[in-house]
Amino acid sequence: MDTHADLLGLGSNIWMVLAVSLLLSIAAVVLATLVWWRLHRGRVVAAFPDAADDPPLDQASKLQHEFEKNNRAADDVLINWSPETLRQILATELPDAQVIVVSNREPYIHNLVDGKVKLLVPASGLVSALEPVTRACSGTWIAYGGGSADRLTVDDNDRIQVPPDKPSYVLRRVWLSEEELQGYYYGFANDGLWPLCHIAFTRPIFRASDFEMYEAVNQKFADVVAEEARNERPIVLVQDYHFALLPRMIRQRLPDAIIITFWHIPWPNSEVFSICPWRERILDGLLGSSIVGFHIQFHCNNFTESVDRFLESRIEREDPSISYRGSTTLVHPYPISIEWPPAGFQNQPDAAECRREIFERFGLAPDTRLCVGVERLDYTKGILDRFMALDEFFQKNPDWIGRLVFLQIAAPSRGTLAAYQQLHRQCLNYVDEFNLRYGNDRHKPIILIDEYHRQEDICRVYRAADICVVSSLHDGMNLVAKEFVATRDDEQGVLILSTFAGASRELLDALIVNPYDPSAVGDALLRALCMPAEEQGERMRRMREVVRNNNVYRWAGSMLVDAARLRKRNEAYEAAEPTQRPEVASNVVPLKGKKKGAAR
Ligand code: F6P
Repeated sequence: MDTHADLLGLGSNIWMVLAVSLLLSIAAVVLATLVWWRLHRGRVVAAFPDAADDPPLDQASKLQHEFEKNNRAADDVLINWSPETLRQILATELPDAQVIVVSNREPYIHNLVDGKVKLLVPASGLVSALEPVTRACSGTWIAYGGGSADRLTVDDNDRIQVPPDKPSYVLRRVWLSEEELQGYYYGFANDGLWPLCHIAFTRPIFRASDFEMYEAVNQKFADVVAEEARNERPIVLVQDYHFALLPRMIRQRLPDAIIITFWHIPWPNSEVFSICPWRERILDGLLGSSIVGFHIQFHCNNFTESVDRFLESRIEREDPSISYRGSTTLVHPYPISIEWPPAGFQNQPDAAECRREIFERFGLAPDTRLCVGVERLDYTKGILDRFMALDEFFQKNPDWIGRLVFLQIAAPSRGTLAAYQQLHRQCLNYVDEFNLRYGNDRHKPIILIDEYHRQEDICRVYRAADICVVSSLHDGMNLVAKEFVATRDDEQGVLILSTFAGASRELLDALIVNPYDPSAVGDALLRALCMPAEEQGERMRRMREVVRNNNVYRWAGSMLVDAARLRKRNEAYEAAEPTQRPEVASNVVPLKGKKKGAAR
């Protein structure tokens, strides 16, 4: 019996040892595959700020070491994305590279107010994402100087060191005439491309004179990029739909540059895109880039489909890229984000204090539940739609009338365009009528503030809220959703988020809604109002984790790592025997080194 029992025990021990070994082997294979994949994809670099005391290790061992040390989910510990990570990527993977950012909107605007120069940080998702990145890279940012005191504050070369309180990079301002601004910015970019790319059912307006001006202004910026480039191989980060033609123009001036173009808004399907009279020119311009980035895969697919339909090209779907006119452009998703921790939200009062302040400022009764919306006054944001949803909510749930207030911050934007003026009027009228219906002299259920607010003020609004509503009809990403989550270190508050905002792909613990369905948005409001504090905490914790990990340094870092990958691929191409070279070169291959017939 004993012997039998011993044998049984021994037998089960052997099985256990075998099982454990098998599990360990599987884990090792999975980890090795993950490490290989990430290295192969170029997403990981030797960037471990806290590994200074560790013995020297190669990249793969570092990853393994880090994994074992922290014993946390591999993806979380691979890289702690921070400004330091970006600096290390630049130092190790792209040594001596000059980073040049090009955008229409400048990060710091100087205005003359009552005879004094006043600084303004614009309400722009693009600015809040790129500013910390440019700071970390000590780069050069080229942008339109639109402030009334901008010319007074630059040096003889139209440059100014920013941020003003702690200069770390150069802002180079480009001057535009009223006519240029009208045609390029208001005209083709915002009357044409903006409604074309957003499905918000506002008709795009295309005028040949606007496109001509758009082209001329893109050329002007290309000249400035060439002027600012310290060598032949800068990394140029072209931002947004204001500059669709710029990548090709830069490529002509600086053939060896790495040009990464990020399109901050959605890309429509090819049928919608086809209505643009200059569709081939737009695609050709963008394909001057080494990489074209969108927030989500869906927009990458739409872009690729548009190229497939309108240009003679070869499309590679595995490592998604487009070969066109003898060179290749990668098409990748890079979900944009905010810095973590967000500098603008530091040193702000806690949630309880913010709530006290905001309630006092707007004269709200202590038991009021507060919903907030924060955005530019833009028809893509679904501001009217959320008011209509509130209407439906009150009709279905009249016991909430008098107990719920919607505070809408709507910064005026592109105010000379008819579509924006009309929206502004509609919002004011709707709110007046709504407040007459559901409010009285002392209580206004919708408070609409159509003014610009500083980041610090917005942080207080977010922290004071029970619910934040982001009901965009269409949005590339939407950083308000991420900012709201970032401010809620009390781990309370509910986010109601449109399924048509890119952020809905990441913030799965928001209440995801179809903004076109007022009844569903109303139901989400009720659910948010009734959500227990514990559930709010669980959801908010998970969303904060997502935003912390997928922060803006990861967004920029992934692009830089891909840029380094391209540069290495290019060097390998150059080093290879001509007969061994791939048929189509990457878009950073210098013209002189290319195969016959491969020149652009
Ligand atoms: O969403 C696209 C975008 O360019 C953002 O990146 C930016 O925050 C916003 O539009 C601002 O627009 P504008 O510069 O026209 O005020």
